Amino acid sequence: MLFINDISVSGKAVFIRCDFNVPIDQDSQINDDRRIREALPTIRYAIDEKAKVILASHLGRPNGYDKRLSLKPVARRLETLLHADVPLAPDCIGKSVTDMIAKMKPGEVILLENLRFHKEETENGPTFAKALAQLAQIYVNNAFGTSHRKHASIFGMPKVMDVAVAGFLLKKEISYFKKVLDNPVRPFVSILGGAKLEGKIDAIKNLLSLSDKILIGGKMAFPFIVALGKEIGIHYDDKILNTAKEILSKLKTTKKRFYLPVDLVVTDNIDSGSAVKIVPVEEIPKGWYGTDIGPATVKLFGEAIADARTILWNGPMGIYENDLFSRGTFSIAHYIADSYALTVVGGGDTADAVYRAQEAENMSFISTGGGAALELISGKKLPGLEILEEKQNE
Ligand code: 3PG
Repeated sequence: MLFINDISVSGKAVFIRCDFNVPIDQDSQINDDRRIREALPTIRYAIDEKAKVILASHLGRPNGYDKRLSLKPVARRLETLLHADVPLAPDCIGKSVTDMIAKMKPGEVILLENLRFHKEETENGPTFAKALAQLAQIYVNNAFGTSHRKHASIFGMPKVMDVAVAGFLLKKEISYFKKVLDNPVRPFVSILGGAKLEGKIDAIKNLLSLSDKILIGGKMAFPFIVALGKEIGIHYDDKILNTAKEILSKLKTTKKRFYLPVDLVVTDNIDSGSAVKIVPVEEIPKGWYGTDIGPATVKLFGEAIADARTILWNGPMGIYENDLFSRGTFSIAHYIADSYALTVVGGGDTADAVYRAQEAENMSFISTGGGAALELISGKKLPGLEILEEKQNE
């Protein structure tokens, strides 16, 4: 695919699809602006090249217009970061927007209002896609985090535009995931965690063939522990147990190493954490909950990570947001940071955990994608990337 610096954008109206889907609290404060900051090199490049810069994004999952999901706080944050005016258009298509664009001078920036205020965005509606396409001469996808969605601004719009290229953030994301998934330096260690095994089955299956070792933590480890015949007081339906059993039996025919927790931090009350113990996985007291990996597991996982040359991490080891249950996740972050490996972190929670563990500086790359990163890890193609490749071959 082509990138923004492969073409001339000077004096042209350039539509940059960003992923500004950032957490905003009730007081309209942005709690984490990493996705905005990561988009800046592409935006600054377009400004310096004297393009008319039209920024667009979705925010949340609105059902029609919803004032609470206006991109206004994002426009204000962009102004602070760019030291420039970033007016927010009242909509993302229509006369009010075309009038604003007509008045723009080269090097100026505007932000369009939330694309998802139109339901045609998520439906990939052709009329909506065409209306977006009429706003600019050049389309730039810089929204890695949304590139797994076949939405109008990600797929339908670039399809009908003459020039559709990728921004620098997309370039960076693709290049790190390629390094990990296409040709990893070995040993390649994958670490998966989080609550739900259901959402990560494809990722595990794909990583089973790609990596040398897989470490599983978080609640998603429990179905495997039960499938191994251990009693931990949790019952799973046949579907999920059979999947866990199928993965475990596939492992027998490979030389891959598969690691599960051997001990856990458990509590009688997840909210209050009134009583907390460390127990072997087979000895979770009745009615208690596993909330983090225990110290023996941390050591086991740490040893497995020690000789890695490539590490991919997606999903925390426990309820890391609670100080009582954060130690396992943070220890894994420290082990990864101390390794001599190329380290790639994917997923919003995992990125957050790495920041809280104060190890962000020590990772090779932290992806801005949650769902998009998981799809890539699962071996799937992203529609947003496919369409850019298709355009290049036209
Ligand atoms: C994300 O936060 O993962 C992306 O912005 C995509 O958002 P969505 O899951 O609402 O499509």
